[in-house]
Amino acid sequence: STASTWSQRFEQGLHPAIERFNASIGFDITLLQQDLDGSIAHARMLGSCAVISESEAAQLIEGLENVRAEAARGEFNPGLEAEDVHFAVERRLIELLGPLGKKLHTGRSRNDQVGTDLRLWLRGQIDAIDGGLLRFERALLAQAELHSTVLIPGYTHLQRAQPVCLAHHLLAYIEMAERDRARLADVRGRVNICPLGAAALAGTPVPIDRRQTAAELGFDTIYANSLDAVSDRDFAVEFMAAASLVLVHLSRLSEEVILWASEEFGFIGLTDRCATGSSLMPQKKNPDVPELVRGKSGRVFGHLMGLLTMIKGLPLAYNKDFQEDKEALFDGVRTCLDCLEAMAILFEEGLEFRPQRLEAAVAADFSNATDVADYLVAKGVPFREAYQLVGGLVKGCLAEGILLRDLPLGRWQQLHPAFEADIYKAITPQQVVAARRSEGGTGFDQVEQQLQQIRMRLAS
Ligand code: ARG
Repeated sequence: STASTWSQRFEQGLHPAIERFNASIGFDITLLQQDLDGSIAHARMLGSCAVISESEAAQLIEGLENVRAEAARGEFNPGLEAEDVHFAVERRLIELLGPLGKKLHTGRSRNDQVGTDLRLWLRGQIDAIDGGLLRFERALLAQAELHSTVLIPGYTHLQRAQPVCLAHHLLAYIEMAERDRARLADVRGRVNICPLGAAALAGTPVPIDRRQTAAELGFDTIYANSLDAVSDRDFAVEFMAAASLVLVHLSRLSEEVILWASEEFGFIGLTDRCATGSSLMPQKKNPDVPELVRGKSGRVFGHLMGLLTMIKGLPLAYNKDFQEDKEALFDGVRTCLDCLEAMAILFEEGLEFRPQRLEAAVAADFSNATDVADYLVAKGVPFREAYQLVGGLVKGCLAEGILLRDLPLGRWQQLHPAFEADIYKAITPQQVVAARRSEGGTGFDQVEQQLQQIRMRLAS
């Protein structure tokens, strides 16, 4: 422990346990590149505003680049005594440059500095997540295109409802992922606002140019209010909410994959690339990947609640509580990226749909019952009446252990004289699906149109 970090107001060093408790260097070293970028922009601005000389600015920038080079060689390993990444860089700079290094912190505070670093970092991570979503969507699209004529039972309440195109089912997840991308792009706009120059909370008498540093760092604009600039963590919450929805979508798909891989469904087989065995049961092949994705989603939802709770009681402006935002963001981002990658690989090479099992599934149930009612509707029978009649017919079939397609024509006509021999074709799974031509429906033409649109969206 050391007293030297602080002003001469301090005489004693920190208690070693408190030094450990207080330090964030163990994790905020993640922000090193952004901290260097921010400091370089700040030093250049101090030079062009004549707060320091141009030559001093150039030396500061060179010193900061030297720290970057040391880090690249693995030679920059600050210890606990540095407290955080911001102090660690400043200390090293002073070691390298002597008294000149002490000029870097003119007109800024760690409060606006940490906000700047975090926003720069998160902005890059949002772009990486966007790339992860795209890869995942392309993997889904490839499976959809591979199986454009394959049908799968559609469910409500996890009870067989009506057959749908497998492609239609997969495209639904692409729609969710596209909303996720749009949401993250929207959040990115509010991440990309620069707090630098707010100083500790109130601005600074030093004649700085906030617009210059913001522009050099690629921010869209600057915070209008210095108190808000150092107190705002809305962007972290918004990001975590958007990431939570990404994980909700991945988790729901994971649940389906896990069901599909079961003996009971048997709709997919897991390849050796993404499945695991049991240490005891030699026959097992387990869907660990979607199970982990489903499980990890909880971490991200937890971070969202953690951030909201951490912020809600804080008076303006900066409070040390904010230091807790970092591990949440780092883990939330990591989890989101890891899960997207794992799910992309799962759909690229980790599973194989079983068209024969799917075909058998859609053929052997009563998921064409609605179409019998719709057949009568087309002949002028009111829907509710047709619905009642067909319900009775299903009840009879269930008692006899037969399917609708097994009924002789006489039985159909006994039920209602409007039935003709074309009823058999009308209730085949292919026809049931093809008939759903309403916009956005599962009809083959509609699905082909959706496929085309998504193909175009994902190509650009
Ligand atoms: N490590 C701190 C954080 O993560 C940096 C800002 C500290 N500012 C302060 N006034 N103590 O929030």
